[in-house]
Amino acid sequence: FSLKSHNTFGVDARARYFMEVHSKEELIDALNYSKTSTLPLLFLGGGSNILLTTDFEGLAIKLGLEGIQEEFISDNEVLVTAKAGENWHEFVMFCLKKNYGGLENLSLIPGNVGTSPMQNIGAYGTEIKDTFVSCTVLNLEKMQLETFNLEQCRFGYRDSVFKQEGKGKYVILDVTFKLTRKNHHIKTEYGAIQSELQHLGIENPTIQDVSQAVINIRQSKLPNPKEIGNAGSFFKNPTIPLPQFERLKESFPQIPGYANGDFVKVPAGWLIEQCGWKGKQIGNVASHQLQALVIINATGQATGQEIFDFSTEIINSVKEKFGIELEREVNII
Ligand code: EPU
Repeated sequence: FSLKSHNTFGVDARARYFMEVHSKEELIDALNYSKTSTLPLLFLGGGSNILLTTDFEGLAIKLGLEGIQEEFISDNEVLVTAKAGENWHEFVMFCLKKNYGGLENLSLIPGNVGTSPMQNIGAYGTEIKDTFVSCTVLNLEKMQLETFNLEQCRFGYRDSVFKQEGKGKYVILDVTFKLTRKNHHIKTEYGAIQSELQHLGIENPTIQDVSQAVINIRQSKLPNPKEIGNAGSFFKNPTIPLPQFERLKESFPQIPGYANGDFVKVPAGWLIEQCGWKGKQIGNVASHQLQALVIINATGQATGQEIFDFSTEIINSVKEKFGIELEREVNII
């Protein structure tokens, strides 16, 4: 079964078996089936954060659970629960249509709701941890449902318990957010949002305006996975100790960095661009011409291994020039 349409890189890798489930009962049935045959499992959400480097000799399960529920908990607050298979951006648009605030800065992020807690998706000054309440998961060992609250998820920058100790142990079935109904917290600190709102001539933005600004920014520099295969940022922005940053600044006075205590976060896109990768293509793979951090399947014919090798070359050259080891953000399968 080809997984080409189930990963946003558009890599034509195959799974021995494939199944789409639409409810937790169907999921449990699928898992029971796989247990009797000891097949390895691969859970697929929107496929926007995976790189399939080889065919998968097991059962790929696409999580197609859909549905959104709302519960007003005060004059100003609503709990919104979306099932794992809801498309993230459509979910954000649903909330904005109802004038629920909190997710607008996360407009147009590819992927599904169910994978949003995995890496605590974030953009333009917001992360899901800012509005996250809890998620329901299936514990694969005990085969029972559990609830993880904010603290238990241990969210960090592009990180959560589901990428650490919990890796491979749970399937996220739904996610609940606490959103505002009236007194919205408009977040426009991110420079790019401010300039875009100015450009649009908007002084007192609504949550819908912020969303539109984010959509415009993303469309102007991030490739649409429906047109060019990619998985967004391929690497995390590295965090380095302040003294190391200061030493680098002597050799590279232009190096950007965002201080956070004794550490500095450096944009990986800048490091990669400085190494000459921006817009560069090798075979079927390239670094995006407008955002070096995004690796693209330039011809549509790239294999996962080719993309992986390309990313290794980037890691090596950044390491050589700056002494910084980039970490992949995308899950390598
Ligand atoms: N930069 C360059 N060259 C490039 C790209 C970036 O020099 O080719 C420099 C620029 O100086 C810019 C700085 O990097 O000022 C930051 O760039 P940008 O605002 O585009 O953000 P980013 O740090 O590259 C992160 C997230 C994005 C998210 C944006 C906006 C990570 C790994 N990526 O990118 O997330 O949309 O901030 O908040 O943290 C994703 O995860 O898939 C993703 C797109």
